[in-house]
Amino acid sequence: MRLAPGTSEEDTPLGRQKNENSGVTIWFTGLPCAGKSTIAQLLELRLRARDCRVEVLDGDVVRRNLTKGLGFSREDRDENIRRIGFVCQLLTRNGVIAISAAISPYRSTRDEVRRLIGSFVEVFVDCPLEVCKQRDVKGMYKKALAGEIAGFTGVSDPYEEPLNPELTLHTDRETPEESAQNVLEWLEEAGYLAGETEDVKRTSV
Ligand code: ADX
Repeated sequence: MRLAPGTSEEDTPLGRQKNENSGVTIWFTGLPCAGKSTIAQLLELRLRARDCRVEVLDGDVVRRNLTKGLGFSREDRDENIRRIGFVCQLLTRNGVIAISAAISPYRSTRDEVRRLIGSFVEVFVDCPLEVCKQRDVKGMYKKALAGEIAGFTGVSDPYEEPLNPELTLHTDRETPEESAQNVLEWLEEAGYLAGETEDVKRTSV
């Protein structure tokens, strides 16, 4: 790129990006209340602290805009996941770390987005159903168990666990901070993150 007189490489948009990572999609999957959104948010903060470009596509948020109007039939869930996958693909190919946090209950649909995106890390947010039911952050399990919500994942709708996820988090046994740290370390070891500075290493616990 030709730079304007008096401009250095550091001043260009690329030069300003301290950690020039290659794009990747981190795909969280798990039951409602397993901890997907919480861990995704923590991971986002950790990555931003390292000057990474990152976007989170959270199921609840996406369903208010990108996939507004879709329901919870298999067909609609698949459409939801395909649209999220498409956005993740665009982000990933532009060097962004895309984080998806949707139930994504069907194995074949997750595999489909994996093939589409390529640079794809499937993270199984594993938590026993009984623990998820106890958490019941939004009171939806209670309603589903009372028959007030039909086709609720884990109660009256299927959840297909990943067979070969890159990473499994056990959120009944680790804190959200520990889970986020596990993902971060996995990404580092797999070479997805540019080397962090000693300063960041010392301050991030
Ligand atoms: S997915 O199956 O299509 O991946 P997604 O993660 O986008 O689901 O949305 C799940 C959220 O929708 C839940 O957090 C919950 O708040 C809400 N929801 C409403 N109805 C259902 C249902 N029948 N099954 C699961 N989640 C539901």
